[in-house]
Amino acid sequence: MEIKRTRIVELLNNPQFGEIVCVKGWVRTRRGSKQVAFVALNDGSTIHSIQIVVDLAQFDEEYLKGITTGACIRVNGLLVESQGQGQSAEIQAEEIEIYGKADPATYPLQKKGHSLEFLREIAYLRPRTNTFGAIFRIRHHLAFAIHDYFNKQGFYYFHTPLITASDAEGAGSMFQVTTLDVDNPPRTETGKVDYSQDFFGSHSNLTVSGQLEGELGAMALGGIYTFGPTFRAENSNTPRHLAEFWMIEPEIAFYDINDNMNLAEDFLKYVISYALEHCKDDIEFLNKMYDNELIERLNFVLKNKFVRLTYTEGVEILEKSGKKFEFPVYWGADLQSEHERYLVEDHFNCPVILTDYPKEIKSFYMKQNDDGKTVRGMDVLFPKIGEIIGGSEREADYDKLMNRVNELNMSLDSLWWYIDTRKFGTAPHAGFGLGFERLVLFITGMTNIRDVIPFPRTPKNAEF
Ligand code: 4AD
Ligand code: MG
Repeated sequence: MEIKRTRIVELLNNPQFGEIVCVKGWVRTRRGSKQVAFVALNDGSTIHSIQIVVDLAQFDEEYLKGITTGACIRVNGLLVESQGQGQSAEIQAEEIEIYGKADPATYPLQKKGHSLEFLREIAYLRPRTNTFGAIFRIRHHLAFAIHDYFNKQGFYYFHTPLITASDAEGAGSMFQVTTLDVDNPPRTETGKVDYSQDFFGSHSNLTVSGQLEGELGAMALGGIYTFGPTFRAENSNTPRHLAEFWMIEPEIAFYDINDNMNLAEDFLKYVISYALEHCKDDIEFLNKMYDNELIERLNFVLKNKFVRLTYTEGVEILEKSGKKFEFPVYWGADLQSEHERYLVEDHFNCPVILTDYPKEIKSFYMKQNDDGKTVRGMDVLFPKIGEIIGGSEREADYDKLMNRVNELNMSLDSLWWYIDTRKFGTAPHAGFGLGFERLVLFITGMTNIRDVIPFPRTPKNAEF
């Protein structure tokens, strides 16, 4: 009998008992007796599986042997109220079709409770687990919430290029893009590689940030945001760094650093409350299985105003703390995750926004303060995460920006167009970048960034 498939989430949320329904999904478990089999079926639409009750006398015994963990099946049957605990509805199977078997001898997801490390090695299958189903549904809802937020604010989604010739952060950790024969590249007369013969006619790379082009958008459309992949070839093997990660970068004309901080705080609170509202079952699952304080922490961030202080004040607190840090702390030092987390988790017990960093440890484009030493940058620091957002008011003055570019010996070849904006109708403006995976880490309570993106890219790993 042909019936339209219903997603399990709809059956469980709004069950029409007594109707014949059709579900399709993957078998999580099968148990039972000689007379009856109970199959937990999951189709990815919810953390909850639906129970299929199979009266064995009504089916071919041999055919049913194909219903094992991991197999994909279609079931038509009667939707009835469930007798079992914790289940609202179950299906009494009338017709079963096996789309694809999964041989128990070789299907890797057999026993319950695989470690996250093991699941990383089989990243091509891990979305089939309850944990990763929950994480990737939350990831989706967060992406949606982000677009929703900026759209409501009147910001435009501005698509910045992934391939560029510039280094947006001036940090030099880029992946090169080339079609030259790397074993035998064309050379100039002086023996250097001749990039004028390369595909783009210049040295080019994957972008580390959409900010520079984003600023051009803000200088025309007023408020924009980017949301796309960014790439960093830094050899950081930490639980918070990926070589390919997604970044959200709003950029807004006529904003100063205070407007920027207000936006960052409001934005984060919006997406967190959106997740609590729209991903309730998944967050509750993760709270139960991985992090009993997760929901409490999310609500705590929603309720409390972020503490704002300068880098200089932050360093003073760290110096006076008497705590022994792995990396020494002094004015001028780039703060490490341990320092950031001390401020957030031990000292203030609250999210923190640090501002006015030494110019030496921040990017060239940040607005310079009158003290000649600091710039109007801001980092938002979160419990368990450390830096979740980095941003600044931008240097809008042509001469000051040029001075900084020269001080740092940066080449104008790939930057002239950016500098030009300061000549043609410059305006005060500001923006920031949110690391999407760090946000997903925070909201799922996971502790390793490799577990919140479907296919992580890290040093020595680009599998799947
Ligand atoms: O602080 P970052 O480097 O700032 C920028 O790229 C600016 N252009 C942003 C802007 O002002 N428009 O990066 C921004 C955020 C960090 O706070 C962090 O959350 C995340 O991006 N991030 C990473 N996330 C995962 N893996 C990495 N390797 C990351 N590097 C930065
Ligand atoms: Mg940063």
